[in-house]
Amino acid sequence: MIKTIILIGGPMKGTRFRPLSLELPKPLFPVAGYPIIYHHIEACSKVPHMKEVILIGFYQPNDALNKFISNVQQEFKIQVRYLQEYTALGTAGGLYHFRDQILAGNPDSFFVMNSDVCGDFPLKEMLSFTVQKGGGSHCTVLGTEATRQQSLNYGCIVENKQSHEILHYVEKPETYISTTINCGVYLFSPDIFSTLEKIFKKNQEDNYKSHEQDCDPNTQMKETIRLEQDIFVPMAGSGKLYVYQTDRFWSQIKTSGAAIYANRHYLALYQNWHKERLAKNGELKPQIIGDVYIHPTADVHPTAVLGPNVSVGKHATIGEGARVRESIVLEGAVLQDHCCVLYSVIGWNVTIGQWTRVEGTPNDPNPNKPFAKVDVKDTFSPEGKLNPSITVIGSNVQVPSEVILLNAMVLPDKSLGGSCKNQIIL
Ligand code: GDD
Ligand code: GTP
Repeated sequence: MIKTIILIGGPMKGTRFRPLSLELPKPLFPVAGYPIIYHHIEACSKVPHMKEVILIGFYQPNDALNKFISNVQQEFKIQVRYLQEYTALGTAGGLYHFRDQILAGNPDSFFVMNSDVCGDFPLKEMLSFTVQKGGGSHCTVLGTEATRQQSLNYGCIVENKQSHEILHYVEKPETYISTTINCGVYLFSPDIFSTLEKIFKKNQEDNYKSHEQDCDPNTQMKETIRLEQDIFVPMAGSGKLYVYQTDRFWSQIKTSGAAIYANRHYLALYQNWHKERLAKNGELKPQIIGDVYIHPTADVHPTAVLGPNVSVGKHATIGEGARVRESIVLEGAVLQDHCCVLYSVIGWNVTIGQWTRVEGTPNDPNPNKPFAKVDVKDTFSPEGKLNPSITVIGSNVQVPSEVILLNAMVLPDKSLGGSCKNQIIL
């Protein structure tokens, strides 16, 4: 039997995804019509003997999360649970803290997935790779190729090219180590828990010693364990850590620009697995260019033109002659007649006035560099200027008619007076 743990983080995480993560936990943000972690769970549901998916995070349980869990349980006929950490325990602290629940039923192995990644997850392939390596007490890390420069933002892996054993692991190195990076998807055998226990105890002892020294009663005993630094770094070279490399689509989703990029790729994957999710052209239907997802309850005027790479959420309305391309339109948004939306995220219940143009700058990987990933750019340049990015409009914003919004970020509940360019509207 196999389980999956998805690390969903908590409210202090996803800061680069604001303002969208102010409304909804980032893992539930819809990409290609479905929440980010829906795609993870769907991939898990295709793995034989997958019995349970456990979400671990430090969000307070909330309606959105509960509703999501009951929906995916029904749809994929798989048990899904949320376990809440009392504080951020790091990428492995939660695994250790909830070890009894994870080990209940004696799983043969379990996947661990970061929630803020997306891709065509090769889970079955990771399983057969691990079996080939002798199964037992292995840990397999999903790896992919990045550019030299971008590799510094990820966990970097040096492998034995023949056996794929990980010889050396450095988390976000300062100088170049390797272009093989950690994708944040792992397959563990249950005996990883004995390693976790050792690290946990050592951390406790270290903490206790420093606690004795500083004598401050407010110093908290930390239960934090970092999977990357505390587990992988010492495990590298021990013969137990392997990398399975993928060349299929994979990306992080740190910023809203990356969500537009992920949206495009998940829509493209629907061409293979879920053609029924893609909108089709037809009489009295809007004109569809390329891959487009339209929720069945959305109301799109037949003279509107959508695509490529557009997702339209529940109960959204798109008026006459509107044009939408490379964008995500969220639930309840209203795009009035003849407006034009390019490279943007239109938030929940936003209204875009007639003949208004909303446009952003794509944050795509450099097409001339093989293996380039989406860059995680800071919001501001070192000179204090807003870096060009996609346009993001927070929920319940009213954008007037006949204005232009270019590379802007508008926080929720604002009403805009006129046009704006390269600005954050607070
Ligand atoms: N439950 C829980 N508790 N989850 C957490 C915590 C925590 O305290 N801290 C982080 N996470 C979750 C995040 O929500 C995210 O899904 C994942 O763990 C990793 O988050 P980060 O700590 O922000 O790491 P990162 O994304 O910068 O880097 C990691 O992922 C890269 C691939 O995307 C590392 O594993 C890198 O080595 C890797 O290359
Ligand atoms: P490139 O080929 O990438 O240069 O783009 P494009 O020439 O197709 O134009 P652009 O990216 O600016 O716009 C994308 C689509 O939106 C175009 O096919 C236009 O027909 C349409 N479009 C552009 N501006 C407007 C507008 O103000 N209103 C409406 N309704 N459609 C527009």
